[in-house]
Amino acid sequence: MTATIVIERLSVTYSDRVVALKDVSLQVAENAITSIFGPSGGGKSTLLRMLNRLNDMADVAEVSGTILLNGQNILDRKVNVMELRRRVGMVFSRPTPLPLSIYANVSYGLVVAGERRRSRTDVAVEKALKQVALWDEVSDRLDSPANKLSGGQQQRLSMARVLALQPEVILLDEPTSALDPVATNKIEMLLHDLSKTLTIVIAPHNTQQTARVADYAGFFLTGELVEFGLKPQIFTLPRDRRTRDYIEGRFG
Ligand SMILES: Nc1ncnc2c1ncn2[C@@H]1O[C@H](COP(=O)(O)OP(=O)(O)O)[C@@H](O)[C@H]1O
Ligand SMILES: [Mg+2]
Repeated sequence: MTATIVIERLSVTYSDRVVALKDVSLQVAENAITSIFGPSGGGKSTLLRMLNRLNDMADVAEVSGTILLNGQNILDRKVNVMELRRRVGMVFSRPTPLPLSIYANVSYGLVVAGERRRSRTDVAVEKALKQVALWDEVSDRLDSPANKLSGGQQQRLSMARVLALQPEVILLDEPTSALDPVATNKIEMLLHDLSKTLTIVIAPHNTQQTARVADYAGFFLTGELVEFGLKPQIFTLPRDRRTRDYIEGRFG
């Protein structure tokens, strides 16, 4: 399963009057990696959190616009937010294993959703761990604590936890900012593979990662989507001077 997302004229203002997103319109293609990049404070995390309604928990004063997930406006009050978050999973910058075993971490969402059949969770755990290339590393110690894994393994475990719920979209907010280059490379390769069957939106912690992983790229500056397009175009022929200056390292 995969999904398209159409964002139309999205504006988000926090309660302290900070305008985090200004009239942002953007289409996220299915089965591709869309990277949103730009200096910090640009609204990237806010946008990601809007895509699975995690911002419901923030101190938001005003939201306008629409976000269509396969045609359905997810900002609609009637949307089942738990179901939305299953369909649109989030991976954060710090790996966040629960103080449980590897197996319990990956099966957690399924168990919370009511799955009690061990045969079902066994299959889902193996599949998710294989999707993040962790199965061969941990299949002989699924009952050992997840926090004994290395940072890179823990981050792949966080991804497996999301993938076990068979999402249509995964959101990643600076997923490799705490990892060394080898672990980072592993995750970038995985994202490439996963994007064959999933819609991926990532806010990388640096511009180079956008250059490496993105199919589409959008440059955000203080809440404004300055420019959006295919990554090669954005990086070689940016239309806007601000995009070019940022990519060439003149600010940010
Ligand atoms: N929960 C929040 N409450 C109030 N202001 C916030 C909150 N989250 C982010 N902001 C503000 O919104 C703006 C955009 O932040 P953010 O979305 O985190 O951007 P980025 O991820 O690009 O750094 C910043 O000015 C930030 O201070
Ligand atoms: Mg951020």
